[in-house]
Amino acid sequence: MDGQGYLEDILDKICKKILRECERNGSIIPYIPENGRYKDMADSDIAWWTNGFFAGLLWQLYNVTGNHTYRSIAEDIEKKLDRAIDEYEGLYHDVGFMWMHTAVADYKLTGNKQSRVRGLKMANLLAGRYNVAGEFIRAWNGDMTGWMIVDCLMNLPLLYWASGEINDPRYMLMGKKHADTAIRYIVREDGSCNHIAIIDPYTGELLDLPAGQGYGKGSSWSRGQAWAVYGFALSYRYTGDKKYLDTAMKVADYFIDNIKKTDYVSLCDFKAPKEPVYYDSTAGVIAACGLIEIEHHLREINQDTKKAEEYGDIAYKIVEATEKRFGNWSDEQDGMIMMGKASYHGLGGDHHVNIIYGDFFFTEAVIKLISKNKDIVNNKEFNIW
Ligand code: GLY
Repeated sequence: MDGQGYLEDILDKICKKILRECERNGSIIPYIPENGRYKDMADSDIAWWTNGFFAGLLWQLYNVTGNHTYRSIAEDIEKKLDRAIDEYEGLYHDVGFMWMHTAVADYKLTGNKQSRVRGLKMANLLAGRYNVAGEFIRAWNGDMTGWMIVDCLMNLPLLYWASGEINDPRYMLMGKKHADTAIRYIVREDGSCNHIAIIDPYTGELLDLPAGQGYGKGSSWSRGQAWAVYGFALSYRYTGDKKYLDTAMKVADYFIDNIKKTDYVSLCDFKAPKEPVYYDSTAGVIAACGLIEIEHHLREINQDTKKAEEYGDIAYKIVEATEKRFGNWSDEQDGMIMMGKASYHGLGGDHHVNIIYGDFFFTEAVIKLISKNKDIVNNKEFNIW
């Protein structure tokens, strides 16, 4: 089977498996399955940052198949998340992950006006987290007033989208400032990334670059690296500012150099000791989506087509290696991509397991790789991001 045939076969498996999950689980909000079954995050933490991913996966499949089962469950999840908006205090920088994949996706595909309002409200919340002195969107809640994190690059598309919707550059300018501060403090000389930068919230002075979800201070948490690859590429898509594309390539090249050493499945941290060997499959598939994004832009501006081809080729290799080693196609078990890892030192229920965002980005990468050569989506303009 050639590459295209392989990917189409995988997409077929994804559609069947997710339909089975929908039939079995209804409108629950999945995170990590326990004994092969998802529980409903609405029962434990309605504001949890991953609560939009399953709906985002469903909107992607709806765009490919037109099957209303995917759509109606995505719509139900979007409505369930209104409780998080009402309760408000549990929300933080990850409102982009939560509402780009639910309300904004719904609005883009169906024109639902109420969904647009949900997206705009959440963009406003995100903009309200902007620190003027340090020029960044603050992370999390509580005492971490001056914290910025690499992950937040993936929330900037909500700001960029909102600016376009209301024809007002304010949100976009905040997003750009955050991306610029990330270039300054998060991206290192060798292309690896810090997870966290602590900035004085009154003066904007850099105070510390502590350890985060990776091995330790100065290490290279692979999912953070993947967020940087895709996040900077998306900042380029929305702003056209070439420095973001250049930065995306710099962090992508670092990611590629490292994932090649482990046959295209990602370790959890590229600068951790050799033993124990911890993988994080989610980092690979997130980076694959970022590489496809960079490839697209390089071709669009007709720059370095050899490099563009390389990025597309590596994205394919990551998807294939991840599926072959960690794919779970059992009809009876929830979750597709195994061996995700929430953080390096977490060895409990979130160590080497299926995590919903792994399934989301795997699906996105498969659809985008197929779409390079064949029309398979109903709405070609649709993009979660
Ligand atoms: N954004 C949080 C994480 O990647 O774990």
